[in-house]
Amino acid sequence: MILAEKDDDMRDLRVAVIGAGPAGIYAADILTTNHESASVDIIERLPAPYGLVRYGVAPDHPRIKEIIKALLRILEKPRIRFIGNVDYGTDLTLDELRMFYDAVIFATGAMDDRRLDIPGIDLPGSHGAADFVSWYDAHPDVPREWALDAEQIAVIGAGNVALDVARMLAKTADEQLVTEIPANVYEGLKANRVSDVHVFARRGPAQIKFTPLELRELAHSPNVDVVVHPEGFEIDEASEQAIHASRQTKQVVNTLLGWIDNLPSTKPRRIHIHFCEAPVAVLGTDRVTGLRTERTELTGDGNVRGTGIITDWPVQAVYRAVGYLSSPVPGVPFDHVDGVIPNVAGRVLDAQGAPLPATYVTGWIKRGPVGLIGHTKSDASETIDCLLADLDALPTAASTDPDSVLAYLTGKGIEHTNTHGWERLDAHETSLGEHAGRPRIKIVERDEMVEFSRDTPYSRENSPAQVGQKAHA
Ligand SMILES: Cc1cc2nc3c(=O)[nH]c(=O)nc-3n(C[C@H](O)[C@H](O)[C@H](O)COP(=O)(O)OP(=O)(O)OC[C@H]3O[C@@H](n4cnc5c(N)ncnc54)[C@H](O)[C@@H]3O)c2cc1C
Ligand SMILES: NC(=O)c1ccc[n+]([C@@H]2O[C@H](COP(=O)([O-])OP(=O)(O)OC[C@H]3O[C@@H](n4cnc5c(N)ncnc54)[C@H](OP(=O)(O)O)[C@@H]3O)[C@@H](O)[C@H]2O)c1
Repeated sequence: MILAEKDDDMRDLRVAVIGAGPAGIYAADILTTNHESASVDIIERLPAPYGLVRYGVAPDHPRIKEIIKALLRILEKPRIRFIGNVDYGTDLTLDELRMFYDAVIFATGAMDDRRLDIPGIDLPGSHGAADFVSWYDAHPDVPREWALDAEQIAVIGAGNVALDVARMLAKTADEQLVTEIPANVYEGLKANRVSDVHVFARRGPAQIKFTPLELRELAHSPNVDVVVHPEGFEIDEASEQAIHASRQTKQVVNTLLGWIDNLPSTKPRRIHIHFCEAPVAVLGTDRVTGLRTERTELTGDGNVRGTGIITDWPVQAVYRAVGYLSSPVPGVPFDHVDGVIPNVAGRVLDAQGAPLPATYVTGWIKRGPVGLIGHTKSDASETIDCLLADLDALPTAASTDPDSVLAYLTGKGIEHTNTHGWERLDAHETSLGEHAGRPRIKIVERDEMVEFSRDTPYSRENSPAQVGQKAHA
């Protein structure tokens, strides 16, 4: 990490971070820690911060959701402000941001599903995992209803999102009643008619991207059996090497092997795991009636080829969990193949491949939608290193008054939220949860979120966290 050297005439630095997911929040933290007169505004389109920690991590993973407490401590730092409910590109353009900030860091993450180009993928009953995740995690901008009327469901993909989706589809609504899910999600899950969820990996057990803890968790439900199908459970020499080289791969394969001889029990629902089955087509005319797969075989280098053996699986819904995809960000170039803003180590590149002045990127929009929350920290660190190395070349924004951007937004009629507002919403959600013996119950409606976090002048003294600390002192 490059530290900005302290000297008496060190310039003030005002930076806008776009996106209040972990990548944006860590970038703000690292910058303000390493530059004594830097201040950062984190501009977020949603009324609440935390990105996929709030709207991606599954509700039955409360321990991971707890990360928001550490992220809140960063938002409460004196030189960091959260400005929520402001959509970059609609409410503020890059030219407008340049009036108020010396540099801009994009941390807009990913929210959509990667496409899977097979026939029938757009049939009713064929869903992207990201849409389902947004529904069960109570994202304010998606429909409130989700039809769970299929008895047999296929999940395509063998990453941790596929595991989340399979688990959320298979567990009962009452099992989820200890989590933060709101009433509409509980009601949706209660109507779920599923009996069998089939997860399809296109490669073998040593090539899947599940992590051991998340895989083992499948078997924790009192209502769900895990069935590992031996057909396609191929372990070649390259797989042996992969197992030998990685403790994680070894644990995953051992867990699967332990399940392969599972005898059927009386549990009402099952998650089946199939290996070496690649999706070929979603079947149906008016809606999904099946999934066609082709058996694959390992080619000795971790890859697979088709064998021509085709199977049609009678399912009434298909969920593809083949990766997330970032959206283009107005005003900066976008690589539509990898779904990232082109950059070198976090410096955004223009169409000619030269660094775009005072413009940076971090998190999933920088390197693609893979990796854990913790990985966004090292990412942010690399980006901030670049920004600090460029300090002398950064322009100075026309306006140096930190409140002018807030006045500008208000003048445009944009009601923005702040850290204090989030603390109010957080306290409200937590108190709703307390009454039901749950960690929180999420507010779903955007208007209601804004209502509870309505902008009041933020002062560290009157923040609930500070008041709580004083009460303990
Ligand atoms: C379903 C799912 C479950 C996951 N579970 C785990 C887990 O259990 N443990 C783990 O370690 N990792 C998990 N991850 C990975 C983790 O969520 C990511 O590594 C991390 O969230 C990426 O951080 P980010 O800040 O780059 O992006 P994001 O978290 O996506 O944050 C981006 C933020 O930018 C905002 N934004 C986007 N566009 C604009 C705009 N135009 N204007 C203003 N704001 C904008 C978004 O609203 C969002 O708040 C999961 C990922 C998914 C998809
Ligand atoms: N609890 C957690 O810790 C947690 C939870 C959720 C997500 N995450 C993290 O978030 C990141 C994103 O997860 P993810 O599951 O979206 O992505 P991922 O880990 O990249 O997995 C994507 C899966 O989709 C498969 N796939 C891609 N294209 C396909 C195609 N055309 N046909 C069939 N299968 C296809 C991939 O198979 P191939 O390998 O063959 O390409 C892979 O199995 C990961 O780093 C993940 O660990 C973590």
